[in-house]
Amino acid sequence: MSNETRKPIISGNWKMNHNHFEAIQSVQKLAYLLTKDDFAAVDVTIHPPFTDLRSVQTLIDADELKFILGAQHCHESDSGAFTGEVSAAFLAKLNVNYVIVGHSERREIFGETSELVQSKIVAIQKNKMTPIICVGETLAEREAGKTYDKVLGQLRSALEKRSHEQIKSMVIAYEPIWAIGTGKTATADDAQRVISAIREEIAKISSATVASSVRLQYGGSVKASNISEIMSQPDIDGVLVGGASLDSAEFARICQYRLRP
Ligand code: 13P
Repeated sequence: MSNETRKPIISGNWKMNHNHFEAIQSVQKLAYLLTKDDFAAVDVTIHPPFTDLRSVQTLIDADELKFILGAQHCHESDSGAFTGEVSAAFLAKLNVNYVIVGHSERREIFGETSELVQSKIVAIQKNKMTPIICVGETLAEREAGKTYDKVLGQLRSALEKRSHEQIKSMVIAYEPIWAIGTGKTATADDAQRVISAIREEIAKISSATVASSVRLQYGGSVKASNISEIMSQPDIDGVLVGGASLDSAEFARICQYRLRP
């Protein structure tokens, strides 16, 4: 489905990298490299670790930068006896706008279930932020021909009991687990096929109108050298970038993909 009406969204997920000093330097360098035209053409969200959020937010506010602040995770309760956790409500107070949820590292390493992902999505939307919901299959699932079962199953669970309006405002990121941090990327055609199946499923769950406005990202070893091909696919509206977002010069080139063939 043509992406003319959906504004591209490029997200940098720093994972557990960059302390708050490095975060400030990194955002300053990125701000220097990107232009007003870049921000007019794409939404750029940055997802630093929790300890960096306040510093990055202050920098964005003070210098009136156009980056959109994001987080990588949240707890589903507003407050309470959950040692070490950070609530969606606290993130909203820091002007966080986007929260990644259901990342495969959270699901696989920290045992987050689809039910938990669902409750985090509810908390994120209740606090008027946008969830970036990650879905994706393992290599074993892919080789067993289970990609669509896994990805669409995760999607259906995440969208359960959400209204048309709530679904419309979400971002869904297809991140095949075997492509994360491995240097292997799904071919652009392959990513397009899965992502267009996600859009079709959203149309079934909600409506064609909603499906045509939801922004869908690809993630997994995205770099400046493969971004143009990925973004040329009709259903891919953006990317969720891990490793390559840690290098401001590389990430700037990714954000400026439209300037190169
Ligand atoms: P890489 O870009 O390092 O493969 O990571 C992708 C990812 O997990 C982003 O959330």
